[in-house]
Amino acid sequence: MALIGVFDSGVGGLSILDEALCQLPEHDYIYLADSINAPYGEKSSEWITARSLELCQYLAKQDCQVIVVACNTATAQAIEQIRHALKGIAIIGVEPGIKPAAMHSPKGIVGVLATEATLKSDKFNALLDTLTPECQFIKQAGAGLVPLIEAGQADSEAALELLAEHLEPILNAGADTLVLGCTHFPFLRRSIRKLLGERITLIDTSEAVVRQLKRQLELQQQTIEREHHGKITFLSSKDESSLLTLAKELMHADLHLHSIQARAFS
Ligand code: DGL
Repeated sequence: MALIGVFDSGVGGLSILDEALCQLPEHDYIYLADSINAPYGEKSSEWITARSLELCQYLAKQDCQVIVVACNTATAQAIEQIRHALKGIAIIGVEPGIKPAAMHSPKGIVGVLATEATLKSDKFNALLDTLTPECQFIKQAGAGLVPLIEAGQADSEAALELLAEHLEPILNAGADTLVLGCTHFPFLRRSIRKLLGERITLIDTSEAVVRQLKRQLELQQQTIEREHHGKITFLSSKDESSLLTLAKELMHADLHLHSIQARAFS
């Protein structure tokens, strides 16, 4: 069994860990939340790159055989540098699902809700260029949403109000499909449905990311020999007990089936 590192600016990557625990419950995981620095989405690209690299190096030192950069923002800004620095380790990133969205959108009008740093990154825009003009994309930075989710307020009135503001230009443009381009945003699903009902298709890439993780583990199977523990270690740069509380609130996976530890790190 493998030890898998999952990293995000905060609790967003729990949406990926949740899916990983459903598809691959037998492995051990270290979940690293850089909560003291969340949100990343409004920081400079130099800062995001340096910090993401530092944290992935930390996970590599803990002996993770695979690292999932469970953050669209860090993937967009830093995945090449991380792969370059950690050559012996498989690095899996996450990207807004604009390709599947373009394929599935009946009208060819797709909203993309992501962080400012993701939306202005070269990586994201290069992918976008391959899909336009056949599909029209309405890019919307979800400013203010990540701090609410970090504070355990994904279902609050404040989140609903802010979401309504952010979704307005997307709806006005006639989008029938919405890409959740930040790993925090699947936790807004209930609020989005409350506002929009079923009239928009939501695209979230966590299942696809975990399928990729599974393929990677199959490739590495020969070289990984560890005892099965089913252990999850939650690491937070801010407050490990609130990370654990939020993990229990936000995730669907049955955490009782795992042996759990929470620690602070800096
Ligand atoms: N969860 C992250 C993402 O997928 C980052 C959000 C943030 O820290 O701004 O982009």
